[in-house]
Amino acid sequence: MEIKAISGKLSKIQVDAIIIGYFEGMENLTATISGIDKALNGVITELITQKEIKGKVNEVNIIRTLNKLPASRVAIVGLGKRNNLTPEKVRTATAAVLRQLRKQGALDIATAALGMDIAGISSEQSAWAIAEGAILGLYSYRKHMTGDPDYEEVKQLTIIEANEAKLDGLKAGIHKGEITAEACILTRDMVNEPSNYMTPSSMAATAKNLAEAYGLKINILEREQMQELKMGALLGVSQGSDRPPKFITLRYHGKESEKIDVALVGKGITFDSGGISIKPSDGMGEMKGDMAGGASVMSAISAIARLKEEINVIAVIPATENMPSGSAFKPGDILTSMNGKTIEIISTDAEGRLILADALAYTKTFDVKYIIDVATLTGACHIALGDVCTGVFTNNQKLADKIVAAGNNTGEPMWQMPMFDVYKELNKSDVADIKNTGGRWGGAITAAKFLGEFVGETPWAHLDIAGTSTLEKDRGYFLRGATGIPTRTLISFILSLVKKTGK
Ligand code: BES
Ligand code: MN
Ligand code: ZN
Repeated sequence: MEIKAISGKLSKIQVDAIIIGYFEGMENLTATISGIDKALNGVITELITQKEIKGKVNEVNIIRTLNKLPASRVAIVGLGKRNNLTPEKVRTATAAVLRQLRKQGALDIATAALGMDIAGISSEQSAWAIAEGAILGLYSYRKHMTGDPDYEEVKQLTIIEANEAKLDGLKAGIHKGEITAEACILTRDMVNEPSNYMTPSSMAATAKNLAEAYGLKINILEREQMQELKMGALLGVSQGSDRPPKFITLRYHGKESEKIDVALVGKGITFDSGGISIKPSDGMGEMKGDMAGGASVMSAISAIARLKEEINVIAVIPATENMPSGSAFKPGDILTSMNGKTIEIISTDAEGRLILADALAYTKTFDVKYIIDVATLTGACHIALGDVCTGVFTNNQKLADKIVAAGNNTGEPMWQMPMFDVYKELNKSDVADIKNTGGRWGGAITAAKFLGEFVGETPWAHLDIAGTSTLEKDRGYFLRGATGIPTRTLISFILSLVKKTGK
């Protein structure tokens, strides 16, 4: 789908459909809508009077124009109350109307700059939200289906704006929206991909392709090098699998200075069977998505590189399977992590924190300002927050505040969880420095406390996406399957740092 912005009038353009927004309780129609309404002999006014058009977010009405306008259809999409408009509502509405139009076979579509100059939304923000809503809402994962879908893909989406002075802002928004949405879609594709395709080696290959395409530095450690670095926790998890582990580091150098502003660390378990502490078979297939954290940090750093931001970022992804076998690690084993801490294994299914322990210790060997790790870490977080909010755990309130704000801006809600010191007690072991589960209660927090042992004083936030990385049914522009969360939040957080430090 090509997305562009041109100056013109919706009532003059010959396309399969034009999209206009309508606010709940709108007293007077805008000049654009009333012009279109007149051309259609007042059908829009009629639908409003009959309350078929109410303006609720997501409400879509499509009217055939029967040659009364150059466009074949007019699609009226609800945007809720005018004063409460947010970019998130623009994303959601755009996705809803485009999905409906795609179903009807509209391929060439024009839209008003939905939300522009309303409730503080700039031209750039409007186009950014439209582009994200369009790309994310029309996403489908059909790679392994040999047949064709029962619809054709939308070919063109054109934002039409009469005021030429707005075009630069709209074009900039489209450019950024395409980059952030494509990053999110890369995450979705990787997470949806089954584990016989998305192996540690193919994660490494994907990282290599991204590095080549966007000029990132890449370093991939093989098992021998992990042994040299004494990554005993990661190697322990990996030892039951026939597929070799890969330790991936991507580096984006966007400004002078060696200091790394943000280190992103992502869990890359390409399949989590639970290992010897094997999971029940029902739903085990979902554990193909246990590398969602790793996918999201790869995608996010690529977007920052594409946007050429003046900031230094690294992404660190420990990638391995967690499998049961004759060589697998076992409950009762004691592993030694890269920073020398010994870990008693209570459950081989608490493997994410083990590979992250070494990844965080490795990240600490760089000069980094902030560390953010992202992981499908605990079922407990899914139970606590459902599939709505990502759990945020931190040792630094300012950092958490920035991440939560970024999540709100992107429509990926985040909720901070407590980190009281008493939770740490639950991870105490009788035979080693620490054990790898703190028990059932507060499981998301004790897991975060475990990770905290490997970051020390560095400002750090841990995002538990076990509940939010996939959805069981569609919600707005998030579709069943992988959501791509928290890719856009990470990008937005990093962009907020760039703005602050100034260019
Ligand atoms: N990958 C799982 C967590 C998970 C569960 C992600 C559901 C997505 C959906 C993780 O490795 C795991 O197995 N965690 C255990 C920890 C327990 C053994 C302490 C869990 O949450 O049950
Ligand atoms: Mn597990
Ligand atoms: Zn796992």
